[in-house]
Amino acid sequence: AVEQTLSIIKPDAVAKNVIGDIYSRFEKAGLRIIAAKMKHLSRAEAEGFYAVHRERPFFGDLVSFMISGPVIIQVLEGEDAVAKHRQIMGATDPKKAEAGTIRADFAESIDENAVHGSDSLENAAIEMAYFFAATEIAPRTR
Ligand code: CMP
Repeated sequence: AVEQTLSIIKPDAVAKNVIGDIYSRFEKAGLRIIAAKMKHLSRAEAEGFYAVHRERPFFGDLVSFMISGPVIIQVLEGEDAVAKHRQIMGATDPKKAEAGTIRADFAESIDENAVHGSDSLENAAIEMAYFFAATEIAPRTR
């Protein structure tokens, strides 16, 4: 089915100047960018986004990293978008990511892993609503 998912290009990948390369991978995989913004997250915004991880030992470092520079946040649409996006990102830990994936090519560590993608359709809806108003998401018209 056609799905929508939330994607974030994290501060490490923005600093590496590979936004275009990553967008190109989305497009080549048949994922369409239907909303996008660049944003330097506040601590409160990053903590709220990752609230499900609040009790995890890496939470503090994760939030500090996510606010260390601007990110690019987008909604991707396409057939099986949630799974397809996760496939082209590769495993959370870049050391375990398959060759040719975004994380294998651009990420340095599990903490600085270049991209985020929603892990389920349910979380995709929650994460999209966290960053975008309905009026900021552009469905296909032609
Ligand atoms: P992300 O998909 O953005 O969701 C939470 C992030 O926490 C994850 O990517 C990793 O960058 C980071 N993280 C750090 N350590 C871990 C860990 N042990 N397990 C999962 N995520 C981790």
